[in-house]
Amino acid sequence: MINILLLLVLCLVTIASHGVDGSHSTFKEDLELERQLKLINKPPIKSIHTKFGYIVDCIDIYKQPAFDHPLLKNHKLQRRPNFYIKKENSSVKNSPTNSIFGFDEVECPIRTVPIRRMTKDDLIRAKSLWNDNILTATAVHHIADVSLKLPGEQYYGVSGTTSIYNPKTSIAQASLSHVYIQSSDGTNKIFVGWQSDNFKKTGCYNVQCQGFVQIESHYYVGGVIPKVSVYGGPMVDMPINILLENNRWWVIINHYTVGYFPATLFTNLNAADEVGWGGRTIAIGVPSPPMASGYFPDGDFYHVGYFINMGYKNATTSADIGPDELAVHENTDASNCYRVKYNDNSQFGGHALQFGGPGGNCNE
Ligand SMILES: *[C@@H]1O[C@H](CO)[C@@H](O)[C@H](O)[C@H]1NC(C)=O
Ligand SMILES: *[C@@H]1O[C@H](CO)[C@@H](O)[C@H](O)[C@H]1NC(C)=O
Repeated sequence: MINILLLLVLCLVTIASHGVDGSHSTFKEDLELERQLKLINKPPIKSIHTKFGYIVDCIDIYKQPAFDHPLLKNHKLQRRPNFYIKKENSSVKNSPTNSIFGFDEVECPIRTVPIRRMTKDDLIRAKSLWNDNILTATAVHHIADVSLKLPGEQYYGVSGTTSIYNPKTSIAQASLSHVYIQSSDGTNKIFVGWQSDNFKKTGCYNVQCQGFVQIESHYYVGGVIPKVSVYGGPMVDMPINILLENNRWWVIINHYTVGYFPATLFTNLNAADEVGWGGRTIAIGVPSPPMASGYFPDGDFYHVGYFINMGYKNATTSADIGPDELAVHENTDASNCYRVKYNDNSQFGGHALQFGGPGGNCNE
């Protein structure tokens, strides 16, 4: 049973590719990897060679990798949610900045969905780095985020628009921004956001193995964001929602419903006990990387990583309104490296937070 699901929708990755890590594998291992890749990468109806050097395959929506998941054997595909997401003209309703949306789109034929093709290298990294290192004790995680977890309260959605930066990461570092929902003990969790990493595209292919059902034909998991924010402007940002409906956790990016996680994948996520917004860094055996713009919150939305238009959904409120300042926790575990500041009445009339910092040797 999968417990932690990590969905990093977008990757800010340096495109330069390096030598093949897999060159050490034996002939037998090679054959095994090829066999697994054949199972993961479905026969495409159409293939798109992106300018970022990877391939996106348009796969029959009913034959996408999610349906290989043992818990989705009899899953009924839902082609669209019953709720309506208004397509905003700009990415942000009440923006303190004149931000733009930086996501790269593809165009897949009807009844197909875009899936980033997994390469042998990706698979090797997925197995070694992600599974063995990132989720184990050797990796040092730091956070600067805001969480909402009131006793007895259950959550059915979370939303916010996050600024996109490309913090400099070296080998064995990652820096991300996300919204999340999780169970009270933290074992079941869905993250959605972007990450900058030098693990070479690690987080991006969770979709292939972990039961995310893609329905949207333009936006896809693991896509590269070509445009990023610059200190002082211009700002690039991305609206994200995670919303529970019909026993599915829907993921909405820039007002497009990208797909969903069936709640049956999880042991206890029929509702969430906690929601949150903010940043996280990961480092393995090296100092921690910068978070967001690399600057501490200073009140200026042209300087610092942000979430704006924050909202959540519980049994009585219908989302789109952020929590009270007194209700949330500001979480930082290394304030010499990263900080967070939440405001439920920021100058442009919304619930917003700033987060980030330079990183380094934290807590030492
Ligand atoms: C949406 O954007 C277009 C192009 O920038 C603009 O011409 C149009 O007036 C906008 N519509 C609304 C409703 O803001
Ligand atoms: C939902 O959130 C609102 C606003 O914070 C709060 O007043 C209400 O008690 C919450 N409802 C439940 C069922 O927890």
